[in-house]
Amino acid sequence: MIAGIGDLMSGQTSSLVLRIKELEEQHLAFRNSLVCAFNQMLDLKDINTGVHSTRLAEWALRVARKMDMPEERLYQVEVAALLHDIGKIGVPDAILKKSGPLTPEERALINRHPEYSWSILRLFPGLEEASLYALHHHESVDGTGYPAGLKGNDIPMVSRIICVIDAFDAMVSNRCYRQGLPHSEAIARLLRSSGTQFDRDIVQAFIPIAEQEAADVFAAAGTSMSAAL
Ligand SMILES: [Fe+2]
Repeated sequence: MIAGIGDLMSGQTSSLVLRIKELEEQHLAFRNSLVCAFNQMLDLKDINTGVHSTRLAEWALRVARKMDMPEERLYQVEVAALLHDIGKIGVPDAILKKSGPLTPEERALINRHPEYSWSILRLFPGLEEASLYALHHHESVDGTGYPAGLKGNDIPMVSRIICVIDAFDAMVSNRCYRQGLPHSEAIARLLRSSGTQFDRDIVQAFIPIAEQEAADVFAAAGTSMSAAL
């Protein structure tokens, strides 16, 4: 009799465990769909810059691994790299795509976008960490960035990674109002701003990835680095 109740209870427990596992998988699939949908929205709004946003996420993951970030945090790194600029949907297109110089008021409005990104991402269950990375992706290691003016290691490492790769992507991308810089010049600018805007170690970790990217672009264009130099 007791063994019968025990069997019944262990059967109920294992079906409960199975059900919890199913619900967890559904929750993760739903969260991933939300991330993809928001990323698609950024593409449609043309807020993602030159390289496809998945390439930006790939760079972030590669740099994070080089910086010995634990594997369990990499999902948050990927999401933050994909969606850090989502707050730009709160900035009018006329300002985002303005070709001339920005007024101080327009600049102040654009500079609110990390806070807007945080306010959106923190509402996703399980993305609270990524929302903080997005909040601080325009901080500078010398404390002159925004929104909080954090310095050095007070800035989350993932935010420092996004700051470097996002700046590189913006520099090499063609925009409607300007041509992208050559990769070599973009790398030189990362180096020049190492220790002021950018984290030195992260720039050093990213440079081989950026150089590989340049080699891939030349290969795709049917030429070679040596021929182009
Ligand atoms: Fe940004």
